[in-house]
Amino acid sequence: MHTLHTIAEVRQQVRDWRQAGLTVGFVPTMGNLHAGHISLISEARRHADRVVASIFVNPTQFGPSEDFDSYPRTLATDSEQLSAAHCDLLFAPSVDEMYPEKNRTWVDVDDLGDHLCGASRPGHFRGVSTVVSKLFNIVLPDIACFGEKDFQQLAIIRRMAQDLFFPVRIIGVATAREANGLAMSSRNGYLSETQKQQAGAIWATLSALKTAISRGERDYPALVQQGTEKLSQAGFSVDYLTISNADTLAPAALPDSRLVIAVAARLGTTRLIDNVTLSIARDQ
Ligand code: PAJ
Repeated sequence: MHTLHTIAEVRQQVRDWRQAGLTVGFVPTMGNLHAGHISLISEARRHADRVVASIFVNPTQFGPSEDFDSYPRTLATDSEQLSAAHCDLLFAPSVDEMYPEKNRTWVDVDDLGDHLCGASRPGHFRGVSTVVSKLFNIVLPDIACFGEKDFQQLAIIRRMAQDLFFPVRIIGVATAREANGLAMSSRNGYLSETQKQQAGAIWATLSALKTAISRGERDYPALVQQGTEKLSQAGFSVDYLTISNADTLAPAALPDSRLVIAVAARLGTTRLIDNVTLSIARDQ
């Protein structure tokens, strides 16, 4: 695997591959890789001849009181994992390479960013959409893989690619989990062993809500209240727990058939997110 740090070098490599008739898959990340990230690399391999990963802790998607400075930067071990997963190219730019001047052009996807994490992280998705646009314009991939763990991010990137005619197919990849159901995340490294066990309550709560809805329960506000109480009892401070329309991300109405149950909750200072989707028959 090659590691490149400049836009010009990545463009040259991708141009060479294209001239040889090869297709390109892309997996953008912020590093501190785990099995969830690696599953995206494996999925990209299935759809493209060459796979590019990026590692860039993007300053514009962190709020002023968030963990940009302390976000784990582990390039050496990340590179080993990417090589082992047969990634062809790692793009690891500096902040100056990606933002050489004060950035004045932003990509903002209306509405989808207002709900869920958008409410408590103003500007976050604008930073994500903007950096992913930059990365798409550098790598020019045929396909790009994003995790379903970040359900709202995936929905926003899909819509951005559609609205701005990016010639890339967005592929969603199922969430990789620990044995107790905890969604793998770079931020899990902030948790103690006891907290990791406690955090299994997120998946247990989402699964219980999914089961209740599948069995015909339709009082969504009551379910949200029950779930919130369960998480509070497990020691979480809940940012939000919602039963939402999986397409608009607005709170679910009774006729909606594609739902996402999404949660963001803090254990100590660590903020964890997770979700589960389900489809219900319209006439239930
Ligand atoms: P990061 O949090 O590093 O995640 C990179 C990709 O890995 C995202 O598509 C995310 O959804 C996916 N991912 C994370 N945990 C996962 C898990 N347990 N199972 C499957 N996939 C998982 O998301 C970002 O970085 C950034 O916002 C980025 C898109 C790179 C833009 O800066």
